[in-house]
Amino acid sequence: MLKTMYWQDGSLMILDQTALPLRENYIRAADCARVAAAIKTMEVRGAPAIGLAAAYGFVLGAAAFRGAGSDWDEYMKSVVRTLGETRPTAINLYWALRRMENRLQALYAEYGATEPTPETQAGFVAALLAEAEEMAADDERDNRLLGAAGAALLPAAATVLTHCNAGALATGAYGTALGVVRAAREAGRDVRVYACETRPCLQGARLTAWELRRENIPVTLIADGMAAYLMQQGKIDLVLVGADRVAANGDIANKIGTYALAVLAQAHAIPFYAAAPTSTIDLRTGSGGDIPVEERDGDELRFLAGVPVAPPEVAVYNPSFDITPAKYVTGLITEKGVISPPSAAALLKLMTT
Ligand code: MRU
Repeated sequence: MLKTMYWQDGSLMILDQTALPLRENYIRAADCARVAAAIKTMEVRGAPAIGLAAAYGFVLGAAAFRGAGSDWDEYMKSVVRTLGETRPTAINLYWALRRMENRLQALYAEYGATEPTPETQAGFVAALLAEAEEMAADDERDNRLLGAAGAALLPAAATVLTHCNAGALATGAYGTALGVVRAAREAGRDVRVYACETRPCLQGARLTAWELRRENIPVTLIADGMAAYLMQQGKIDLVLVGADRVAANGDIANKIGTYALAVLAQAHAIPFYAAAPTSTIDLRTGSGGDIPVEERDGDELRFLAGVPVAPPEVAVYNPSFDITPAKYVTGLITEKGVISPPSAAALLKLMTT
């Protein structure tokens, strides 16, 4: 099965998504700073995947501590800062770091000490690694659960429009929106996918198309601006995307271009679903307007695969995500089931039961 990342000999091996689909190349991240750089440069990307990478980065940070007069607590805070200051939109990053910090607190109680000694450090690191590995296993289990819940929504033959990459590459394994597609295929449904290319970083063209073709799932690539015409022609049964953060009122942050698809879907009476594990739901963020939207370098638009495609000095606005108001979302597919519509009350109930 496709491995987005794995632990090997004290390092995190990361499938370099910037090189796909041309090269399947794993990067060896041997320290926390390299993991942070991989997240920032999108060598690893997708909300659950960056959360997992950050968890392993936390382990690498703890392993690199060299006592000698430095303060453990301050040091681990700086590890969390390094990892947390990479990409601000996906809540999974902060969720994963919080889970690792909670495990560390529990270790203090288990060891009866609030910092490791040279003798106990290996034990601390092993326990933190076990937590990160468990998080990866939970991620795959949850994706399979949400996949099955979402598959039940699909007709026997369905054509799905998706955006960006919410597949195995964006998670530890299996995927969220593409997890639904996988589960539907496994259940014997005839599912076909149209993938928006997803400018400017082309996650749809480079990653979704590559990932689905590897498994012989029928996929057709379209430019982002073609979606409306396909809907008008009756070619789309359902829009299915992932999410980087779901606010308490059901507003959803996802890859730039998602909002346009949601409005278009409503105009054409096509269901619009987001698929995400509950670790993507952030009840502390009231509404979409409170979600920090990452802005990335303008060169992502000025160049295409290193080739200039715009005047070099042209001003660029490059928000990496947008916010889809809850009113456009037919339902949210999670590992705990589907909530339709994703109202504030339904989200609260989902997260507290
Ligand atoms: O900038 P990216 O590629 O990290 O953006 C990814 C997305 O927007 C995905 O749709 C989202 O993270 C969900 S992935 C299961």
